[in-house]
Amino acid sequence: MERKVWKLARRPVGDIADTDLTLVTEALPDLAEGQFLLAVIYISLDPTNRIWMSDMEQYMPPVALGAPMRAGVCGRVVASRKPGVEVGQIMAGLGEWADHIVSDGSFMSPLPQLPGVPLAATYGTLALVGPTAYFGLLDIGQPKPGETLVVSAAAGGVGQIVGQIGKIKGCRVIGIAGGKAKCDYVVNELGFDACIDYKGEDVGAALDRLAPDGIDINFEQVGGPIMVEVMKRMKLFGRVSLCGMISTYNDVNPREEPGFWTTILMRRLTIRGFIVTDFAARFAESGSALAGWMLEGKLKTRQDIRPGLENAVATVRELYTGGNFGKLLIEVQAP
Ligand SMILES: NC(=O)c1ccc[n+]([C@@H]2O[C@H](COP(=O)([O-])OP(=O)(O)OC[C@H]3O[C@@H](n4cnc5c(N)ncnc54)[C@H](OP(=O)(O)O)[C@@H]3O)[C@@H](O)[C@H]2O)c1
Repeated sequence: MERKVWKLARRPVGDIADTDLTLVTEALPDLAEGQFLLAVIYISLDPTNRIWMSDMEQYMPPVALGAPMRAGVCGRVVASRKPGVEVGQIMAGLGEWADHIVSDGSFMSPLPQLPGVPLAATYGTLALVGPTAYFGLLDIGQPKPGETLVVSAAAGGVGQIVGQIGKIKGCRVIGIAGGKAKCDYVVNELGFDACIDYKGEDVGAALDRLAPDGIDINFEQVGGPIMVEVMKRMKLFGRVSLCGMISTYNDVNPREEPGFWTTILMRRLTIRGFIVTDFAARFAESGSALAGWMLEGKLKTRQDIRPGLENAVATVRELYTGGNFGKLLIEVQAP
């Protein structure tokens, strides 16, 4: 049996180029004892894919040149020699940009099926972005009723969930997103209090208007000039949950963001960077809270599903221009 898989041919310089990855067909090995074969249904395209393609300082080893491109995946078990893993089971975890994956179960676990919720929504909420939003906001942001929360990349995979958890916790939530359609979505469909269209208005002036008393929590996802405007307006004892800085990921010469050191000192800010896997021991907690909110109708999520493994490279690039609207997934085969 054969599979199709994308391999990293060279490290991108700036934007990801078509020729940085190659789609190859290769033979699948026979399953060894303890392994199973996953037919991939969804591949999660994530901003961190660009980081994994690079050799910048990061939280996991970079993808090696010539190796399969690493990815979050979800699929159906089609053959198993691993006790406890049954044919037909839906598994999710760390895999590859491929249509089939041989796994020994490391970094893979069964994905719960929620009644009445499509697989894409379950996977596109519970697997990565939901726990990121949950721990990044609740553990680091420490939201309290009446506080003002600002979340950038507000209409994306993580941001849409952060804002809704913020509302559940009684915060005043201001999103920042690119374009009127995304802003309308988070306010009208998800219940955010306001949203700043950073492509159409001055972010600093809008923050002054919408948060005249300042910002208690910055859920930071983009870095760059947007982060500067938010940081300038942090309140005394504010918290910054530093989740990502997507505006910098395609930099040819990765740079440090300005330090805001005086602001941090004088306003006694708490800033913590985190990677969702830091909280792996507590994923059952986030899974049950997020699933509960979904089933109660308190948490809605949007997925942006694109067909075709062959489109992975062109599609992943859209994350860095805002071409996606919701959690970006490649559908490799119908669920
Ligand atoms: N720490 C962790 O464990 C962890 C886990 C998952 C994700 N993250 C981080 O969280 C952030 C969001 O990830 P996601 O998966 O939810 O992606 P996403 O928000 O669904 O997609 C990325 C979005 O970023 C915005 N963006 C891209 N370039 C930008 C720029 N130069 N300035 C402002 N906004 C820009 C775009 O939205 P607009 O159209 O609104 O510009 C784009 O849709 C990323 O920084 C990612 O690295 C961190």
